[in-house]
Amino acid sequence: MAKQRDVIIACDFKSADETIKFLDRLSRVRSEVISCDDVGIGAGRPFVKIGMELFYAEGPAMIKQLKSRGHKIFLDLKLHDIPNTVKKSMQVLGEYGVDMVNVHAAGGIDMMRAAKEGLMLGAARFAEKPKLIAVTQLTSTDENALHNELLIDKPMSEVVKQYALNAKEAGLDGVVCSAYEAAEIHKVCGEDFLTITPGIRFAESASDDQKRVMSPAQAKDAGSDYIVVGRPITAADRPSDAYERCREEFL
Ligand code: C5P
Repeated sequence: MAKQRDVIIACDFKSADETIKFLDRLSRVRSEVISCDDVGIGAGRPFVKIGMELFYAEGPAMIKQLKSRGHKIFLDLKLHDIPNTVKKSMQVLGEYGVDMVNVHAAGGIDMMRAAKEGLMLGAARFAEKPKLIAVTQLTSTDENALHNELLIDKPMSEVVKQYALNAKEAGLDGVVCSAYEAAEIHKVCGEDFLTITPGIRFAESASDDQKRVMSPAQAKDAGSDYIVVGRPITAADRPSDAYERCREEFL
């Protein structure tokens, strides 16, 4: 199957109300710019990422609501537990009909295999299967913490590569990583292995708390498959312009 690039908006909001208000505003403007042929359910609806804060606040109803509006959903819950627990939890998430979901690669190959099995069981009734992605190392973990807290004595780049290979071995679809790592991950895991890259900022913008950022255009050149963009869109004066700009630069 051909790979598809897309822009995923990180909906880091506290409540369903805030999220829907933001997406309504975005869609209202967007429906004025998208082609008249694109009038089906989901046309012009952005791919969105729902993280722990929003999911724990609103629960599965949030997923149902966004799905019924036609959004594709990346449910970013980063599961990490014993294989049996992860398998059963993933089965539940698969039943929601999400499009992308993730685990921590640090849980190991058996845990990732179990996650995949559970997810596929849960998603059995859906023709399009959800993608399962691994987090290699959190971007908040630096070399110092890796060596002195986690007692992993290999360099970060090697750890990231090995975790990506483990994810591939377990049958996962890709990893969340920095756009700076995308090319190397494609080199070792293959072009079909997906790289989902946060840390995106427009060339002229501040980087906030993100340490290593790339613009959507640079991320495209670096080989990212999906960019995850939060504040550059959600905190923009005109979010729909910012979203369109991401699409223009990246797609
Ligand atoms: O607002 P900003 O564009 O920085 O948001 C990036 C999103 O990607 C946030 O939801 C953040 O939690 C997520 N993320 C990240 N770095 C990772 C994994 C996820 O920034 N390594």
